[in-house]
Amino acid sequence: MSAPQPIHLHDYQPPAYRVTHTELKFDLAPSATRVTARLHIERHPDRAEGSLPLVLNGEQLTLLRVAIDGQELGDGEYVVDEATLTVPEVPERFLLDTEVEIDPASNTALEGLYLSNGMYCTQCEPEGFRRITYYPDRPDVMATFSTTVIGEAGTSPVLLSNGNPVERGELPNGKHFVTWEDPHPKPSYLFALVAGDLQKVEERYTTQSGRDVTLQIWVEEENLDKTEHAMASLKRAMAWDEQTYGREYDLDLFMIVAVNDFNMGAMENKGLNIFNSAAVLTHPQTATDAAFQRVEGIVAHEYFHNWSGNRVTCRDWFQLSLKEGFTVLRDQTFSADTNSAPVKRIEDVSFFRTAQFAEDAGPTAHPVRPDHYIEISNFYTLTIYEKGAEVVRMLRNLLGWETFRKGSDLYFERFDGQAVTIEDFVDCMREVSGLDLDQFMRWYSQAGTPEIDAYGEYDYAKAEYHLTLRQRTPATPGQPEKQPLHIPVRMGLVGTKSGTDLAMTLDGEPLGSDAVIHLREEEQHFVFTDIAEAPVPSLLRGFSAPVKLRFPYSREDLAYLLQHDSDGFNRWDAGQRLAMLALDDLIAAHRNGVEKVMDVRVTEAFRTLLTSEIADKAVLAEMLTLPSEAYIAEQQPTVDVDAIHAARTFVKQSLALALRDEFLATYRANQTDAPYAPEPEQIAQRSLKNVALSYLMSIEDEEAVTLAQEQYEAGHNMTDVRAALTLLTHSSRDDLANPALRTFAEKWAHDPLVMDQWFTIQVTRPQEDVLDRLKFLMDHPAFSLKNPNKVRALIGAFAGQNRANFHRPDGEGYRLLADVVIELNRLNPEIAARIITPLTRWKRFDESRQTLMKAELERIRAEALSPNVYEVVEKALAE
Ligand code: TRP
Ligand code: ZN
Repeated sequence: MSAPQPIHLHDYQPPAYRVTHTELKFDLAPSATRVTARLHIERHPDRAEGSLPLVLNGEQLTLLRVAIDGQELGDGEYVVDEATLTVPEVPERFLLDTEVEIDPASNTALEGLYLSNGMYCTQCEPEGFRRITYYPDRPDVMATFSTTVIGEAGTSPVLLSNGNPVERGELPNGKHFVTWEDPHPKPSYLFALVAGDLQKVEERYTTQSGRDVTLQIWVEEENLDKTEHAMASLKRAMAWDEQTYGREYDLDLFMIVAVNDFNMGAMENKGLNIFNSAAVLTHPQTATDAAFQRVEGIVAHEYFHNWSGNRVTCRDWFQLSLKEGFTVLRDQTFSADTNSAPVKRIEDVSFFRTAQFAEDAGPTAHPVRPDHYIEISNFYTLTIYEKGAEVVRMLRNLLGWETFRKGSDLYFERFDGQAVTIEDFVDCMREVSGLDLDQFMRWYSQAGTPEIDAYGEYDYAKAEYHLTLRQRTPATPGQPEKQPLHIPVRMGLVGTKSGTDLAMTLDGEPLGSDAVIHLREEEQHFVFTDIAEAPVPSLLRGFSAPVKLRFPYSREDLAYLLQHDSDGFNRWDAGQRLAMLALDDLIAAHRNGVEKVMDVRVTEAFRTLLTSEIADKAVLAEMLTLPSEAYIAEQQPTVDVDAIHAARTFVKQSLALALRDEFLATYRANQTDAPYAPEPEQIAQRSLKNVALSYLMSIEDEEAVTLAQEQYEAGHNMTDVRAALTLLTHSSRDDLANPALRTFAEKWAHDPLVMDQWFTIQVTRPQEDVLDRLKFLMDHPAFSLKNPNKVRALIGAFAGQNRANFHRPDGEGYRLLADVVIELNRLNPEIAARIITPLTRWKRFDESRQTLMKAELERIRAEALSPNVYEVVEKALAE
């Protein structure tokens, strides 16, 4: 087999032919579905030269018939290979008819048309449509679609596709059909079809211009009671997009379908969003607060794509962040507006700094707009999504909301119905603001996390504060040299006497007490004048740019900011920095075999947090949460897995011992009898209470063990049940945990989403026997390698969240993951290429672990690999 070849951005050419209208007919059968297509094709006006062959994408299709303008083509008139159908001679404008057979039942890759729990569904983004029929499967070919779905009335009473149903009827042999018409031209990746035995909940929404929209959520019958939150979230998202971006919905029907087997979170198919059931179903008894919030965010994300993605789409897949980065920013802002804005920002940034920073520092690092790829499915990454959102957020902050909104209006108006590029988007922002964004564009082309070293000095005599910022972006694969970026640094100077933000004057210009300074050079000096008292700088407020910022803060400075910073985000960050300093000492102590001593300044800072009246309990819970092992690892040149685990455990236990009464009081003060609601106030109380309990359980305080047990047995809601069961399972009290795990599994055997949680709770436990437990659970009847949620819940959670055990010195954790990757490479390449991630980061570890991890990667490389896994493994093993 020849190695898959990369595709380059600079090779982009408009399509030779476009499709103006697509007529599809599906005759569904599990192993032999017939797909009949009639494509209305014309030569692209920009590609008029000579006669060009028609080349259509198509994979794993059995071609039965091909005709042009009604004339069936003979053997010599077309060529079919593994990936294409080519017709060398075609007219300027014609009808192409094809008929193919496909096999949904054996489709374990979950791309194209497949079966999930007996239900037909599709996933076409990015290149799944070519597994359904022969087509120019690229986003810059946009057509209206008319789709007829024929199915068995008994097993598939519900037949759905994009747009509006226009005709339905009975057919012989117990079959029936529905015809759908989607009037909005769309690329093939937004096509969707669902057929099965589904039930719906239905509500109505009237848009600001008075369009009456029917909203439907389609689920399996037993899940009808789990749709309320998604429906409410959808309505909130629709109203929010009208008010905030002036965007309203454009069809009479909007449908969401929940499916159990799905590679990602959800998919924004026009008028027919398909969701991983984990991203749509909630119930107080089965879903945690975090799950409720995730559902709200994903429902909004997919809905927002209707404009940022569907009405205006991507010219090619290099522009993926055009729709994903912007849409993530939109969903983040929506969630911030709906819940607690500072907590949302803290959650997003803390995830970003752990996971995206790690990606940027690893072998698969790539820019927000990559310039080449082998397998585009590998590029649905934290960089494209989350870093892309940070880049658009910086644009929004540079322009200010009102100007940014004008730019957004211009973008949607100018490019409605088109497939465009990231330049097109940024040009709109340039046009409405008059800003020079040339240097800013480097954020799209340069990979890696910029690092800023900051130094500050207060000049008492002159009443000046001098700040120096120096930026550097480390080399990433294929990009050895980096250019300086335009980095907006939002900041304040917190007076050490007044405890408030001081008014800042820079180069004679008053900036106010909270302002953005612009770092454009490699090194820049900023002199703030008329600063009457010595300040502590509060830098990068709200995480104003996706960078690492170092500043030589003393612990006293950080304790001070933790209390006095006016920016809630930076108050939290000061606490994280303070904890990191203590953790660094303890990591060193662990390495040197020196006795560990807890830094009392950290203890006292936590005591102050626990005893002072902090209004936002959710922020307080975040402040009390120590940096994760994964985050700590990102701060180290070589990751010392064991020292990190030991140091973090020591800090947690020391705090629990010193502040036992405070934690206990916090736990008690945050009980509530109110019926469960996924509302900010209640969520905050639960998270604060459960953080307190987790400290107490780290020392297995007798009272805490009883409280955890009671909380588990009370069974008020899944948030509290899961927290308690996790703490018991992760403690040494197997005598309590095992019976609880058993009853839990009996109670929830019928609910796959709850069983996912049961798997995760067990494989994230710190005990050394966890690998045996994991292997045992892989044989559990509720587990299946064919279901991506199960793979994530068991294998993904172990490799990603149980660092000390995954990185066992004997390499057994690595071996297990590699075995899974090899199997998944055959079953589901998209998931295989994702689950492998922890192994690809081998260069970050000590030599002995490096050797073991590399050996597993080489074992994988020896297999017959899918392009997905091939690309990742080659990058991981490249010198
Ligand atoms: N466009 C989807 C989203 O972000 C992403 C997606 C859903 C996807 N399913 C996929 C990407 C399968 C790759 C493969 O909202
Ligand atoms: Zn998206």
